[in-house]
Amino acid sequence: MKVLFVVSEIAPWVKTGGLGDVAAALPPAMHAAGIDVRILLPAYPALKAAFPDAVPLTSFSALGHTATLHAATIAQGMPLYLLECDACFGRLGNPYLGPDGDGWPDNALRFGLLSRVAALLAGGASPLDWRPDILHCNDWQTALAPAYLHYLPQQAGTVKRAATVMTIHNLAFQGLFGRELLSALDLPDHAWAMDGVEYYGQLSFLKAGLQFADAITTVSPTYAREIQTVAAGMGLDGLLRYRARRLTGILNGIDTRQWDPATDPYLATTYAVDRLAGKSANKAALRAEMGLAATKKMPLVGIVSRLTEQKGLDLVIDIARELAALPVQLAVLGNGEHEMEAAFRTLTAQWPGQFAVHIGFEERLAHRIEAGADLFLMPSRFEPCGLNQMYSLRYGTPPIVHATGGLADTVIDAADTRHGNGFVFSHVTPAALLATIRRAVALWHNTPRWKTLQRRGMSADFSWNSPTQHYTDLYQTLTQKT
Ligand code: ADP
Ligand code: GLC
Repeated sequence: MKVLFVVSEIAPWVKTGGLGDVAAALPPAMHAAGIDVRILLPAYPALKAAFPDAVPLTSFSALGHTATLHAATIAQGMPLYLLECDACFGRLGNPYLGPDGDGWPDNALRFGLLSRVAALLAGGASPLDWRPDILHCNDWQTALAPAYLHYLPQQAGTVKRAATVMTIHNLAFQGLFGRELLSALDLPDHAWAMDGVEYYGQLSFLKAGLQFADAITTVSPTYAREIQTVAAGMGLDGLLRYRARRLTGILNGIDTRQWDPATDPYLATTYAVDRLAGKSANKAALRAEMGLAATKKMPLVGIVSRLTEQKGLDLVIDIARELAALPVQLAVLGNGEHEMEAAFRTLTAQWPGQFAVHIGFEERLAHRIEAGADLFLMPSRFEPCGLNQMYSLRYGTPPIVHATGGLADTVIDAADTRHGNGFVFSHVTPAALLATIRRAVALWHNTPRWKTLQRRGMSADFSWNSPTQHYTDLYQTLTQKT
C-alpha cells in the first residue's frame, strides 16, 4: 500500500495547532505498520533548515509559479517531499497568516499550488516512479487536489489515479476565495457549479475536496455526526449528508513518546501512574515559573489553547470573579484574537499571584502546564477532536470539557464512578462551566477518589495504534473499490 499524505504543517517545525501534531505522528505510525507512506509539505524556511540535505527531484510550472520537489528522509526512514517555491512558501512565521493576523493575500495560489502538485503526483502523469494508491488530503489547504484529479485531463492509457481521502480537521476553515481566481487556479469554467467548487458565490477549497474525494473522514465519530446537522455543519451539512456513506469519524491518537510524563524532558520532575508523587514538584515549578503564589490546598487549573471563539474561553473570563473566590488558580498559555489576549492579560493584573497568563506559542510551557496543573480546561463550543484533553489525561490532570466532538468521545464524567476520567458539561454557558469547576474542585479535595480518577486517565490507551488500523482498513477498501 502506497500513500501520499499531503498536509500544510508539521510539528515541531511548523505548527499552528493539532494538525501539525497529527502530521508528525500519524504517517510515522503508518510507516511503522508497514505502509509505504510519504509526506508532501511546502518547503517553508523552517523545513529547509531542518532538512538541508534534501535532494532536488523535478520541477513544475503551475499556477504562474515554478516549484521544485525535493526528497528528504524524516523519522525512521520515512520519505518526505518538500515543495520548494520561495515566492509562495519562503515567508517566515505563521504559514497562513501575515503579521496583521489576516490570511496572506495569495493563499489561494499558494495552497492551490500545493494541491495541484499533490494531484499531479497522484495522477497518471506523475514524473516520479513512485505512484501512490492513495492520496490523503488534510483540510482546505490541500482540498483542491481531488478536484484537480477530477477536472484536469489524465493521460490516456497510463496508470490510473490514486483514490483520494479528504480529512476534515476543522470545518470552520474552508478556504473561501473570489470567483475571479478560477482560471488562475487552472480550473475549467464548468467547475463553477453547485456540484463543483462554487459555494454561495465563492470558490471553496474545502467544498471541492468534500465533493470529489472518494472518502471523507473527520477526526472523531461525534464530530462526524455533528457536521451533518445544520447547527454544526457550517453551511456544508447538506453536502456532508449527501455524502454520508463516504464519511467516517476516526478518533485521533496522540504521540505517546512526545507526551509522556515518565520521560518528558521539559518537566521539573518526571512521574508516572505508579510514581504520582512527582506531579506536585511540577505544580510547584509551574507556580514559580508563572508567578503564582505557593498557596497550599488551592487547585491549579491549566489552559493551553488558541484564543478564538471556537475554544469558548470567553466563558472563563465571564466567571473570573467566581473562580478567584472559589478559590482556584489559573495558568493560561495561548494566543489568537487580540481582544481575548487583552482580556486575559487584564485578569492577571486584577488577581496577581492567582491568575497567570502567558501570551505566545510555547511548546515547552504547554508540557509544563499539562504536568503542573491539577485540572485542565477545554470549554470549546465545538471541537473536531482536540488533543489537549488526551495529553492532560495522560499527565494525570483530569480535563473539564464541553460534551462536543472529540471531547465527548474521550472524556467521561466522574459521576460514572467506574469509568469516569474527567468532568463534562452539556451547555456552553458560564453557569454550567462554573458548576462543573465547583464539582471538580470538590472532588479534588477528596484525595483517594482524585487519585483513582488520575490513574484511570493515565492508564488509557490514546496511542495511534487503533486509528492507524482504521485508516489502513479504509485505504484497503478504497483500493479494492476503485
Ligand atoms: P486545535 O488544533 O484546534 O488548536 P488541538 O487540541 O487539536 O486544537 O491541538 C492544539 C495543539 O496546539 C496542542 O498540541 C496544543 O498543546 C498546542 N497549542 C495550542 N496553543 C498553544 C500555545 N499557545 N503554545 C503551545 N502550544 C499550543
Ligand atoms: C483541528 C481541530 C482539533 C483537532 C485537530 C487535529 O485543529 O480544531 O479539534 O484535534 O485539528 O485533528
